[in-house]
Amino acid sequence: MKNIKSQFPFLMNNPDVVYFDSAATSLKPDKVIDAVRYFYTNLSSNIHRGEYASSLKTEGFYEGVREKVGSFFNVSDKDVVFTKNASESLNMIATGFLRNILEKDDVILLNEAEHASNILPWYKIAEEKQAHVVFMPLVDGRVDLEILESHLKKGVKLMSIAHVSNVVGVIQDIEAISKLTHQYDTYLSVDGAQAVGHFEIDLAQLNPDFYSFSAHKMFGPSGVGVLISKHEIYEKMTPLHYGGGSNTRFDVLGNVTLKEIPYRFESGTPNLEGVLGFGAALDFIEDIGISNIEANENNLKQYLLDGIMKMDHLEVYNPYTDVGLVSFNVKGIHSQDVAFYLNHHNISVRSGNHCAKLMHGVLHTEDAVRLSLSVYNTREDIDRFLDVIRDITLEKTVDLYI
Ligand SMILES: Cc1ncc(COP(=O)(O)O)c(C=O)c1O
Repeated sequence: MKNIKSQFPFLMNNPDVVYFDSAATSLKPDKVIDAVRYFYTNLSSNIHRGEYASSLKTEGFYEGVREKVGSFFNVSDKDVVFTKNASESLNMIATGFLRNILEKDDVILLNEAEHASNILPWYKIAEEKQAHVVFMPLVDGRVDLEILESHLKKGVKLMSIAHVSNVVGVIQDIEAISKLTHQYDTYLSVDGAQAVGHFEIDLAQLNPDFYSFSAHKMFGPSGVGVLISKHEIYEKMTPLHYGGGSNTRFDVLGNVTLKEIPYRFESGTPNLEGVLGFGAALDFIEDIGISNIEANENNLKQYLLDGIMKMDHLEVYNPYTDVGLVSFNVKGIHSQDVAFYLNHHNISVRSGNHCAKLMHGVLHTEDAVRLSLSVYNTREDIDRFLDVIRDITLEKTVDLYI
């Protein structure tokens, strides 16, 4: 991964900073920033509304990104709906689809490693429909297919699960899970927020019913998310919002004809600059090659684990992690104080419960420090972290407050 750092202006402008919080949001390469800038400086027009050159050109770019997303995930571009973020995509499934089919005493199957965005929408819809949310146990953060089947046998309307949990880092076997859920007529929603951009994802092969993610975690701009589903499911889905851009006609009697899928789900002016920037993020990933990104991250993860597993004053919760995401604590020091201490040494990590407030059920801790890697991290970054964490003491962290 030579010369990658130099493509990230944040790192060039903050040369002393080691950024280890890519699971919260990734840094943005020049290519993405340039694409956003290009929109404002050369296009600056709305789409699906203008017959003039800059509008038609913008529309061409916007729809081109939809096609890129389709081919990146091996699905039809007609199955790609742009949303605001992964959270909105998940809410769209709950209120736009599940609400239409959920009945009293139906079951929604989750697990305790999930992010709030993959729990709260289901709580809300379950409460409204007097259905039940059931949490399935994981084994070392992983779905055990026998345990899953025992739940499915009792009847589950929809299962929702992170492809990669933001606290555990395990890659779930979505292909096997979707085969099983479909045997029992259970819909499968997959939260891909922590998976996208880290390894190849072929949705035709994995075959979930829904796949949700955000562009900002894969080098793209904030404010752009994606929902990928299937035509026959979208046909049963109610849009989350109504307004311009999503209808072909309406009359004074209140009759509305919606546009075809996916446009009926994208009311109002979309985040045009964000989508164009997202297209550049996909190009950035393709230029490096997703398998190179995966191999590099695996390599760094192993180097990091080799370093921290040797330190007796640390407790590492997910040594079995499949991606560059490690949760740990320094014994006797609160995670927030550890993060503050690391920040004092210009190392950015996340601490707390990471919006996964039920994670104690999986990691057996209420909070942890989370270190997450990306393409711009190096062994030197990890060495800097290891040197600082090796010498941390409670006294040193307390001294920062005095
Ligand atoms: C596993 C997981 N799901 C969903 C989300 C929500 O993503 P967003 O805030 O972009 O909607 C996150 C964000 O951290 C996440 O880690």
